[in-house]
Amino acid sequence: MKRTFVPALLLTSLALFTAADVLAQGCPPPPNLPVGSCAPKTGTVSNFTGDTGAMRVRKSIYRLSAAEVTELKLAFKRLRDLPSTDPRAWRAQANVHCWYCGGGGPSDVHVDWAFMPWHRVYLYNLEKTLGKLVNNPNFALPYWDWNTGDSALCGTSHLKVPSPYLGGTTATNSLFDCYRNVTAASSMDPTRVGPARIATLLNNNNTFDLFFGTASSSSAVSPGPHGYVHLFVGNSTNLNIAKQDMGVLETAARDPLFWAHHANIDRLWELWIAKYGTPAYPQAFKDQNWLFWNQNTVRTRMRASDATDRETRLKYRYATPCGLIAVNPNILADRITLTPIPITVRTTPVATPESAEVDPPRETREFNINGDVGRNIVLHLEDVEVPADESAILRVYVNQPNATAESAGADESVPGTGRLVEELFIVPAKTPGSGGHEGHGHKFHFRIALPPDIAAEVERAKGDVAVTIVPVSASVAGGPESAPAAVNVKLKKPYISVE
Ligand code: C2O
Repeated sequence: MKRTFVPALLLTSLALFTAADVLAQGCPPPPNLPVGSCAPKTGTVSNFTGDTGAMRVRKSIYRLSAAEVTELKLAFKRLRDLPSTDPRAWRAQANVHCWYCGGGGPSDVHVDWAFMPWHRVYLYNLEKTLGKLVNNPNFALPYWDWNTGDSALCGTSHLKVPSPYLGGTTATNSLFDCYRNVTAASSMDPTRVGPARIATLLNNNNTFDLFFGTASSSSAVSPGPHGYVHLFVGNSTNLNIAKQDMGVLETAARDPLFWAHHANIDRLWELWIAKYGTPAYPQAFKDQNWLFWNQNTVRTRMRASDATDRETRLKYRYATPCGLIAVNPNILADRITLTPIPITVRTTPVATPESAEVDPPRETREFNINGDVGRNIVLHLEDVEVPADESAILRVYVNQPNATAESAGADESVPGTGRLVEELFIVPAKTPGSGGHEGHGHKFHFRIALPPDIAAEVERAKGDVAVTIVPVSASVAGGPESAPAAVNVKLKKPYISVE
């Protein structure tokens, strides 16, 4: 790959950290420490042999029946009630995430192509464990479809924490987490997680490498809406002050909302396939493997190839979120018996729920810079390093050298469109103030596919572009931006490639 280096400007300000605020609601005093060792119990390892149950259907949290919400709460309650000696116990489940995010495990699954498959198999094991605890082999996790837009049909609640997760205490509502600084009224910024943002994410990341990442570069999904939702749930009033549980990776999975958030992240994988087809997963990708304690308390090795064969190996699928009508061929068939006019019945749905939710792939236009030809012009930000116990929100502009945090306030554009080519939400691995600076987890290589109009501009300029990276303080959803009080970011000189 030929590298074209580009002039870059990184605006940073001095580090200044305040002690964690005091939390209300009867939580033990913050920070929610000590996290202690995240190391899992060891045990004799078996290989996962594939799910033999019926197909489970994951539904939008907004579409669960009252009985399904009751069952969900019972399942989480029973998980919370497991004795701490059980390797499937509440804290042990969350510690699996800690272990694999720089908490001592063999790798950090947030910085490379492990991100999508690792979280998929992680959710699978929790889902099966919850199902076992409520004796329902068909139990499925719900997904929090924050990307479903507001409409008369779907309501205006998708940008808020779903109501079953709010209210009460963890003793009375197992889905509640007192380490959240978010209220029923707190609402996310639709430009960061709404339908246009997800459409852009899918449009721009049109190759396997871009969407899933590589062995040494990040999936496009990890730093975008994924990170935003984490920081929002942790602290909706100031995204720059990352707070437990959700705002910090080592504690994120202690919040039941984590699983609903990640089910939606996992669903993006299916939306990508609906748009582009099943990719040829590289063998090295499929060979990745990790250890979990399964629902039967067996130490189990799962592979990314189990994740890529979701339908046959893991046996679940996603139901349609609100607003999309699946075509049911049986309805047409019924009509035939009532009418003498012969009609051709479609034997396959004309639009699957997934394909109805995504736009068609963008045109396959090729770009050429000095003889390098490819479908995308990719901006590389390599060795982006943030201390493991700090967060950062970075706006990445191309050919807008005068961009500042303040100008971002007036800029309503959806990241991934126009000159705002990406917005990165970096979630700390370790609790802010815990001094976990030496954590090995947080060095990213971001590969940012330039939006087509900007790519064309860069092509015309023969690769001569200016990159401006603006740390912002996204204090409230959609509110004005300002320069943050603290950002410690280092990175190598950016470059572009045609691929
Ligand atoms: Cu493993 Cu959403 O983080």
